[in-house]
Amino acid sequence: LTQIKHICCIGAGYVGGPTMAVIAQKCPNVKVTVVDLNAKRIAAWNHEDLTQLPIYEPGLAEVVKEARGRNLFFSTEIEKAIDEAQMIFISVNTPTKTYGAGKGMAADLKYIELCARQIAKISQDDKIVVEKSTLPVRTAQAIKNILDHTGNGVKFQILSNPEFLAEGTAIEDLHSPDRVLIGGDTTIEGHKAIQALVDIYAHWVPKDRILTTNVWSSELSKLTANAFLAQRVSSINAMSELCEKTGADVNEVARAIGMDSRIGPKFLKASVGFGGSCFQKDILNLVYIAKSYGLHEVANYWEQVVIMNDHQKRRFAYNIVKTLYNTVSGKKIAFLGWAFKKDTNDTRESAAIYVADDLLNEQALLAVYDPKVSDEQIYSDLDYLNSRSSEDNATSVTIYNSPYDACKGAHAIAVLTEWDEFKEYDWLKLYNDMQKPAFVFDGRGILDKELLESIGFVYYKIGEGS
Ligand code: NAD
Ligand code: UDX
Repeated sequence: LTQIKHICCIGAGYVGGPTMAVIAQKCPNVKVTVVDLNAKRIAAWNHEDLTQLPIYEPGLAEVVKEARGRNLFFSTEIEKAIDEAQMIFISVNTPTKTYGAGKGMAADLKYIELCARQIAKISQDDKIVVEKSTLPVRTAQAIKNILDHTGNGVKFQILSNPEFLAEGTAIEDLHSPDRVLIGGDTTIEGHKAIQALVDIYAHWVPKDRILTTNVWSSELSKLTANAFLAQRVSSINAMSELCEKTGADVNEVARAIGMDSRIGPKFLKASVGFGGSCFQKDILNLVYIAKSYGLHEVANYWEQVVIMNDHQKRRFAYNIVKTLYNTVSGKKIAFLGWAFKKDTNDTRESAAIYVADDLLNEQALLAVYDPKVSDEQIYSDLDYLNSRSSEDNATSVTIYNSPYDACKGAHAIAVLTEWDEFKEYDWLKLYNDMQKPAFVFDGRGILDKELLESIGFVYYKIGEGS
């Protein structure tokens, strides 16, 4: 059986970095090298000051501290790392295509293909290639076609090992995953490769949580899991709008249905809309795959999850406009939170971006505070939409280091991320410094309604009817 001594991971992002840090932590006898084209990102992973790591995740700095320099390395020497590894994880980004056929829907696999070609070019001995990125079902076939044409007799096994970690809880999720999924060929060589990867995870994951399947089931399970999770959020968000109209409270409804063990209590928190780099991208990819097989009803069914999510973001923005007497032109509106969820500095597809865009179209002046997101990131998120010039974004949006400064003189506060610290603020002080009437639009339903109303705020909570 293949005993793995060297692992290489291509892609030092939100998945590659934490995943490999934990493998290195738990398997001190395996050398793990994480490589990336982005030299700045690698330098940040190697930064002596652990607060400067390129991503913020609770517990990550401790894991990196333990393993880095021992058996965990971050490097830009991609070829060298591929050459010495027996097992290569591909953990590069697979964004939605922005051009050509499948634009706005299909996954863009150009980075995956580049990796496969590079592995094919460099490899001199047999290797196991592991798909860690989320990929359309049957991508392993394409990777295999590229790898099988090296002409130098090197043999490759391709495994699918999708990652289920959620940002903000990545380390916890990696340390005790609900399950690890490994898909591989049903041949003898395939089984050997699967076993080699099982042996890595078995260092810390109980055997009964390591699931092995064929490659296609594994690839498709990842898209399915994200589609089901996002569907729950869109389902509860759909009910949140009905709650607001009928005087029901979505949190009470969620609690009532969540106690049914068939439904379960998790992932039923109504919000301003789901964000993150995965849900929308993976559902659109699923929709595209279904369409490409002519399964239009299947495609339309899942597309509705994204349509509902877009509606939720938009109606949150328009509720602000409507409530502020049908105009926000020239009014300061403070945003608490920009990240797509708490405990991360990731802003990809964050609802805040789209709510901000709608309000800027209404000529609002935005004041943004987020505990972890950088100023550059906020401006670049807005500029990326191309709705207006970056000069206009810079003029209309101001970013603050203090929530109290952000809210000073504002007509309204909008809560876009559920950061815990927002609950602890001196809300009386915030109120005293605002325009009156002072409005709070709680897109995460985290604040204390009684307290805020007793101070004098006009308080709107997502999913709560009056
Ligand atoms: P990311 O953008 O944070 O990281 C990807 C990294 O790959 C980047 O640093 C990029 O420079 C690097 N890269 C791209 N092409 C390269 C190449 N040819 N050679 C070397 N480096 C290259 O992305 P991510 O969030 O880590 O996601 C990676 C994959 O994992 C995606 O397929 C995503 O769908 C999936 N996934 C993400 C999450 C999540 O929570 N972010 C969870 C599960 C699965
Ligand atoms: C998701 C999946 O959970 C994870 O398994 C997969 O590997 C990657 O995609 P992530 O996007 O990091 O993880 O975070 P997640 O906790 O799923 O939240 C996604 C979005 O949904 C966030 O914007 C979050 O605020 C929102 N959400 C989540 C809700 O609005 N309500 C909920 O009840 C749960």
